[in-house]
Amino acid sequence: MEKKFKRTLVTSALPYANGPVHIGHLAGVYVPADIYVRYLRLKGEDVLFIGGSDEHGVPVTIRAKKEGITPQDVVDRYHKIIKESFEGFGISFDVYSRTTSDTHRELASDFFKKLYDEGKFLQMESEQYYDEGEQQFLTDRNIRGECPRCHAPEAYGDQCEKCGATLSPDELINPYNADSGNVLVKRKTSHWYLPLDHYQPWLEEWILNEHKEWRGNVYGQCKSWLDAGLKPRAVTRDLNWGIPVPVEGAEGKVLYVWFDAPIGYISNTKELLPDTWETWWKSNDTRLVHFIGKDNIVFHCIVFPSMLKAHGDYVLPDNVPSNEFLNLEDDKISTSRNWAVWLNEYLVDFPGKQDVLRYVLTANAPETKDNNFTWKDFQARNNNELVAVYGNFVNRALVLTKKYFGGKVPACGSLNDYDKGIIDEFMGVKEQVEQLLDRFKFREAQKEAMNLARIGNRYLAETEPWKIAKSDLDRVATILNLSLQLVANLSIAFEPFLPFSSKKLREMLQYDNFKWDNLGRIDLLPEGHTLGEVALLFEKIEDDAIQAQLDRLARIKKENEAAAYKANPIRKECSFDDFLKLDMRVGTVLECAKVPKADKLLQFKIDDGISTRTILSGIAKHFKPEELVGKQVCFIANLPPRTMRGIVSEGMILSAEDNEGNLSLLTVEPAAKPGSEIK
Ligand code: MF3
Ligand code: ZN
Repeated sequence: MEKKFKRTLVTSALPYANGPVHIGHLAGVYVPADIYVRYLRLKGEDVLFIGGSDEHGVPVTIRAKKEGITPQDVVDRYHKIIKESFEGFGISFDVYSRTTSDTHRELASDFFKKLYDEGKFLQMESEQYYDEGEQQFLTDRNIRGECPRCHAPEAYGDQCEKCGATLSPDELINPYNADSGNVLVKRKTSHWYLPLDHYQPWLEEWILNEHKEWRGNVYGQCKSWLDAGLKPRAVTRDLNWGIPVPVEGAEGKVLYVWFDAPIGYISNTKELLPDTWETWWKSNDTRLVHFIGKDNIVFHCIVFPSMLKAHGDYVLPDNVPSNEFLNLEDDKISTSRNWAVWLNEYLVDFPGKQDVLRYVLTANAPETKDNNFTWKDFQARNNNELVAVYGNFVNRALVLTKKYFGGKVPACGSLNDYDKGIIDEFMGVKEQVEQLLDRFKFREAQKEAMNLARIGNRYLAETEPWKIAKSDLDRVATILNLSLQLVANLSIAFEPFLPFSSKKLREMLQYDNFKWDNLGRIDLLPEGHTLGEVALLFEKIEDDAIQAQLDRLARIKKENEAAAYKANPIRKECSFDDFLKLDMRVGTVLECAKVPKADKLLQFKIDDGISTRTILSGIAKHFKPEELVGKQVCFIANLPPRTMRGIVSEGMILSAEDNEGNLSLLTVEPAAKPGSEIK
C-alpha cells in the first residue's frame, strides 16, 4: 500500500434484506472482504469493515404483499437471518447495521437535501405506468405483459425471463399490474435526476486515467458505460417504501434504493463511531475500498462516486474489487428459483465446517470469470487438501511431539542442507502471499498459504522421523521443532482465510504471539514450550453428506421444472351442439397387440357393450400392449371407419398428452359397464 494512506475503510455491498444470503454472496463479496480486513488487522493497520442490510427497494414490497405482512416485517426477518449467517461464517464486520436505522434515514435525507439545495439535481416530468384502481405508479419489476420478442405472456417490465431480453415497460404488449392484474394507463409524474452526463469528463479522467490498476472486469465495464455516454438518472421513485424525499410537494415519493443504499456505508460508520466517523470519510489519507459483485459495478464506480463528488465532502473509492458470478452445479444461482446453497442452512447441515466452505469458495473464487461450485469439488477439496495436506501435517507434527517429547517443543539441533532448503522455501511464502493480497488476488494467495502446508507435509513424509526415533532422537527433535515452527506459521498464514481453524490451531499450540510480521520466522515456539490438547483440524466428509445435498438440488430442479411448465393455449370456441355430436363411450380392452411393421400402432379389440370392435391407436411407443389388456378405455364411437395398413379402425381411443409429449390413457374410476356414454 502506498504511504499516503493512514487508514483503510473497507465496505462490502449491503445485501437486500428480502431473502437469506447464499454461497454466491459469500464467494463474491464477503469472504474476500473478510480475508482482506483480517490481513490488514494482522499487519496492525488501522482498518474498519463496514456492512449492513439494504432494506428498501421494490422486491421487499413485493414479498410483503405476497405474505400479507408489512415491508418492515420482511426486512426485520431477513436482516436477522443474514446477520447471523455472516456471524456464523466469521465475517468480521466492525458494524453490521441496516438502512432502516434512524441514523441512516437522517443522513441519507440530509445528503439528498444538500444536493437539492445546491441545485445539483434536474427535475423532469415523464410518463409512467399508473394503476388507477390501486392509485399507484408502478416500478418496472411490478409491470408484466407480453414479451415483444418471444411473445411469452408474462414478461417483466425490465426483463423477459423466457428469452432473456432486457426490456423497458414501454415495450411490453398489454402491460398490467403484476399484483392487482389491473390494466395500466400512462400518467405524468415528476422526478429528480442526477445529471451523470455532467460528471462524465471528470469520471473519464478519474477512472480511465487515474485508475488503470482496477481489475480488468471493473475497468472494462466502466469504460463501456463511459463510451456509451452517460445520461441523467432518476434518484427518486413513486413508492410507499423508502426514505421520503425531503422536499415540499414530493408526497408519495421516496429516494431510489440505489441512492440511499450506498450512503448506508457512511451511516453505518457513523452509527459505530458517532464522534470520529468523519475522520474515516472526510480525510484524504483514508483509503476507501468497496467489495462488490459485478452487477453492482456501475453503481459503485460511476453513480455513487458522482454522488460523492456532487456532495463534495467525502473521499472517493481507491479501488473496487468486484467479482464475477458463482454458479451452482453449472446453473445460475437464483433466489426466486431456490437454486442456491443458503448459508443459514449450510451452518445447520455442516456444523463447525465454516472454514471448509470459506476455503472452497476462495479456491474457486470467481475473480476473473464466472466460476462453478459443485458439491463433489467441495468434498474433494476438503478430503484431499484440507484433511490430507494441512490437517495431516499438523496432526503428525503434534502427535509425534506428544509421543516422543511429552508434548513439549523439543530442542532444535544443527540443521542439515535439506532442512535449510525447506526453510528457504517457506520464507518466500510470506512475501508472495502479501503481494497477492495487496492486489486482491485471494485465490492465488490462499494457494500459496496451502503451499506452506504442502512443504510441511512433504518435509515429514521425506524425513520420516518415526523411523529414526530409536537411533537418533536428537535428529527427531530437530525435525519436530522445525515442523512445529511451520505449524505456528500456518496458524498465522491461514488466519485471514480460515479463522476458525487458525484459532483451533492456536489453542493446540498454546500459541498467541500472533502477528503477520512473525510469518517466516522459525523461532516462534520456544524450546520446552508445552503444547495443548491435540484435536483433528479437519474431518473427512463422507459421500452420504454430499449425496444429501445433491438430492436436495435434484428435488428443487424437478419442482422448478414443474412450476415452469405451461400447457398449450386453449383452442377456439366449439359450440355445445358440435360437442354433443361426438359419441364417446367406455370400452374394455379384450386384446391388444402391436401392428407388424408399424412401430407406432397398437391394434385393440374392444368390448363396446353391444359387440366388439377393432380400433387402431398410435400409442405403441408409450405402452406395452399386454399391460393394457383388461383395462377400460374411453373412445369416440361414431367416427367414420378408417383403414390403416389394411386394417379397418372403428373409432379413436382417448389419451391425454402434455406439450412435452408425455402420454396418459383416459380411463374410468370406478369401473363402468362397457358402452357407458361419456358426457
Ligand atoms: N443490495 C444491493 C445488491 O444486493 C447492493 C447494494 S450495495 C450498496 O445488489 F452500495 F448500495 F449498499
Ligand atoms: Zn421474451
